[in-house]
Amino acid sequence: MIPSLVVISISTLILTPAATATTLSSTFPSTRIAQQVFDGDNFLKYDGIRGPYVDRKSYGISRDPPPQCTVDQVVMVKRHGERYPASGEGPSIEVALKKVNSTVQSLESGKGDLDFLRGNWTYYVPSDCYEAETFTGPYAGLAEAYSHGQQYRARYAHLWTNNSSSSSAPLVLPLFAAEYQRIIDTARRFGEGFVGEENYSTQAAMNLVSESSSRGADSLTPSCHQDDSTARDKCNAYPYRLPQFDAAAERLNAQYKGLNLSWSDVVTLMTMAAYELNARSESKWIDVFTTDEWVSFSYIWDVNFYYCAGPGNKYIRAVGANYLSASLSLLQQGPSAAGSLFFNFAHDSNISPIIAALDIANPPQDLPTDRVAFDLQQHWRITDIIPMGGRLTIERLNCSAGSALGAAGIYVRLVLNEAVVPLRSCQDGPGYSCSLQRYAEFVQGLPVFADECAVPPDEPQHLDFWWNYTTSSKENWHRGERCNGLA
Ligand SMILES: *[C@@H]1O[C@H](CO)[C@@H](O)[C@H](O)[C@H]1NC(C)=O
Ligand SMILES: *[C@@H]1O[C@H](CO)[C@@H](O)[C@H](O)[C@H]1NC(C)=O
Ligand SMILES: *[C@@H]1O[C@H](CO)[C@@H](O)[C@H](O)[C@H]1NC(C)=O
Ligand SMILES: *[C@@H]1O[C@H](CO)[C@@H](O)[C@H](O)[C@H]1NC(C)=O
Ligand SMILES: *[C@@H]1O[C@H](CO)[C@@H](O)[C@H](O)[C@H]1NC(C)=O
Ligand SMILES: *[C@@H]1O[C@H](CO)[C@@H](O)[C@H](O)[C@H]1NC(C)=O
Ligand SMILES: *[C@@H]1O[C@H](CO)[C@@H](O)[C@H](O)[C@H]1NC(C)=O
Ligand SMILES: *[C@@H]1O[C@H](CO)[C@@H](O)[C@H](O)[C@H]1NC(C)=O
Repeated sequence: MIPSLVVISISTLILTPAATATTLSSTFPSTRIAQQVFDGDNFLKYDGIRGPYVDRKSYGISRDPPPQCTVDQVVMVKRHGERYPASGEGPSIEVALKKVNSTVQSLESGKGDLDFLRGNWTYYVPSDCYEAETFTGPYAGLAEAYSHGQQYRARYAHLWTNNSSSSSAPLVLPLFAAEYQRIIDTARRFGEGFVGEENYSTQAAMNLVSESSSRGADSLTPSCHQDDSTARDKCNAYPYRLPQFDAAAERLNAQYKGLNLSWSDVVTLMTMAAYELNARSESKWIDVFTTDEWVSFSYIWDVNFYYCAGPGNKYIRAVGANYLSASLSLLQQGPSAAGSLFFNFAHDSNISPIIAALDIANPPQDLPTDRVAFDLQQHWRITDIIPMGGRLTIERLNCSAGSALGAAGIYVRLVLNEAVVPLRSCQDGPGYSCSLQRYAEFVQGLPVFADECAVPPDEPQHLDFWWNYTTSSKENWHRGERCNGLA
């Protein structure tokens, strides 16, 4: 299997998690080489990170560690899995749906792309389920998190042992979840996949990390007290009007007499369509819009994240640096002093600042809001950064024999949505990894979160919860708001 050429369908991932985690090849096949590249056909690359998880497009670097290296520590942060629309999105979706449905139903007949509304199509959000993880269909958020846990168990099982203990008692696996129900649900399902459902109540420990801004830097969801007003204005100007949305409105309005969709109704309906896959195996709405329209839709989300929680905001690097400088301390202490596995769970807008601080996807210029900047988008493409269930996995590598690729020692690799992504300015180790020493210099050169973002002096100035976690299972089944039918 060549990750860069073959798009692995998500249903395959869900059905055979262990296989995909362990059979990624580290050499290219030399026969029957595919001559097509499928990324352009994959809807999940154009869904504006509303729809299901999809791997990052790989640079071709093997996902497995180089042969002379073993992974000895892992620090991951994962976005919650596939979910229903946000409660803020619900009302406009329901209004737009009513508008199209009442027109389509009122016409006796009519030939157009929305005729399926006269059939059995129903809206897919159960009452009270806005914001929640999805639990139905092949791309359900709860299933994705579980299968991800299984895949990481297969990949990192060797780190889940206590080599300094003579007893064979298994370690307790800490899980660190920002305290928001769908994030806690994602962490739980990941934990169940990792330690096994039957062992979750004894071998995992849910650590809830409050989202309150009064936690200052000791948080997975830190907020900046400085305002970049230019970025904020562009962030708040979403949705951005591109001509493809007007064209879609014109087409549908021409098909159904009396339909009066605006370009922003089109954006709303596309948003609803992308989310449908989180709960169902298919969406008839995808084909209502052309691929060009989906290209524009995905771009406006790239732009939105760029200014709202990405490098278009001048304080965002500092926000991301908070996580990076604390995780650097874990890497420097190493597994025997700090522990081996740190699995964290948060929101998309908490992870994109980390990617911005790492400078692995920042475009050379600001993204325009009035046209699709294809060249810049190749850098900052949000479906390659934080899809639903997306994850940044930092691996510490212990590499033995020195070679032309680097001396024996400790190296760091960044894996974003299962693709290895080298740092721009440091590739001095095997597998395009970066020596811990030079990685530390890079991270120490980043702005300091507490200073740049004016964390109040009476609030924590550092992220400390990785050194002060509970091994109790008291919160393992933490339940806040639950939507209908959620197990
Ligand atoms: C609509 O009916 C078709 C054919 O019976 C079925 O395959 C599909 O799942 C139904 N869709 C919904 C949303 O109920
Ligand atoms: C569309 O309108 C029909 C007729 O009023 C109704 O039965 C159906 O549930 C509506 N569909 C949606 C998706 O709102
Ligand atoms: C424990 O020892 C095994 C075998 O030497 C090694 O592969 C693994 O990385 C060690 N685990 C930790 C957490 O140090
Ligand atoms: C590993 O085992 C040693 C010896 O029993 C114990 O002191 C230590 O706390 C254990 N480490 C963890 C992370 O549980
Ligand atoms: C659950 O724990 C038991 C006892 O440690 C172990 O034998 C079993 O393999 C574990 N199950 C999974 C799925 O890891
Ligand atoms: C169509 O909607 C626009 C607002 O989007 C409104 O100004 C216009 O009057 C409407 N036209 C008809 C025929 O309803
Ligand atoms: C790297 O692994 C080797 C072999 O297991 C071990 O002896 C050495 O202590 C490790 N290095 C570090 C810095 O952990
Ligand atoms: C450790 O965590 C507990 C519980 O979250 C908290 O009450 C305590 O203040 C923390 N201690 C330190 C030193 O951060």
